[in-house]
Amino acid sequence: MKKTYFLLATFVSFILLLGACGENEGSIETEDTGQIIVVRNCANCHGIGLNGSDNNPAINWIGDKYNKKQILEVIKNGRGEMPASIIKGKDASKAAEYLSGLKLK
Ligand code: HEC
Repeated sequence: MKKTYFLLATFVSFILLLGACGENEGSIETEDTGQIIVVRNCANCHGIGLNGSDNNPAINWIGDKYNKKQILEVIKNGRGEMPASIIKGKDASKAAEYLSGLKLK
C-alpha cells in the first residue's frame, strides 16, 4: 500500500514536473524553484499537498513552526524515519526558503 502510494506520488510529481518544464520553454531561466524541488523530493512522503500521510507529518504550514535555518537543519540531519540530506546545497536552501513561507497565520 505504501509502495503503491509512493509510485503514484512519484508519477504525479513527474506530471507536475513536465508541466513546469513546459512553462519554461523558450526561457533562459531553467533552474528549479523551491516549490518544484519540494514537490519532487518531499511530497512522496509528506503528501502531494504536503498535508501529511501515514507517519509523515504535514509540512504545509511549517513556516509557523520553523524558520528557514531550522528547516535546513531537518533536511541536513534527517529526523526519525526521514533520511538525512535528501537534497543539498542550493536545492536545500531554496526548498527551506519556500517551506518557511508556508504559514497558516
Ligand atoms: C522518506 C520519507 C520522507 C521524505 C522523502 C521526506 N520526509 Fe520530512 N519527515 C519524514 C518523517 C517520517 C518525519 C517525522 C520525523 C519524526 O519526527 O520522527 C519528517 C519530518 C519533517 C520535518 C519536521 C516536521 C515537524 O513538524 O517537526 C520537516 C521540516 C521535514 N520533514 C521536511 C522535509 C523536506 C523539506 C523534505 C524534502 C527535502 C522531506 N521532509 C522529505 C519523512 C520524510
